[in-house]
Amino acid sequence: MSKKITLFETALKIMENAYAPYSKFSVGAAILSSNGNIYSGCNVENISYPCGTCAEQGAISAMVAGGDAEISEILIIGKGSNLITPCGACRQRIAEFGTPETIIHLANKNGIQKSLPLKELLPLAFQDKDLTK
Ligand code: THU
Repeated sequence: MSKKITLFETALKIMENAYAPYSKFSVGAAILSSNGNIYSGCNVENISYPCGTCAEQGAISAMVAGGDAEISEILIIGKGSNLITPCGACRQRIAEFGTPETIIHLANKNGIQKSLPLKELLPLAFQDKDLTK
């Protein structure tokens, strides 16, 4: 099976596990690491709303815990038919473990609808080279 189909099916499946009683908006994310491994995550909300975590965050945590450190591609799918893009904070999280060429796939239940590089979603990103002392 192609990696893109595996990413889609993985994200679609994990979206079912989302814990989203407050927003009622489930999100799934699946990462293809540069080593060829797949990791996934879903959003996990909290009654103290700011404590909730995004699907991308969960997938990145799983990747790091699994011993990988570079995102080659990431797919995001939301519950509705609208395509969703990663929130601003998650773009920065993806940048931490990706490159400007990291591919972000946006999907709905029918499959991947759009794919674009991180540099288009997060131009002028804050980077380690900006941390001059
Ligand atoms: N959400 C994500 O999981 N990822 C995003 O990129 C956008 C938003 C979640 C957070 C919250 O649980 C729900 O979607 C509604 O904002």
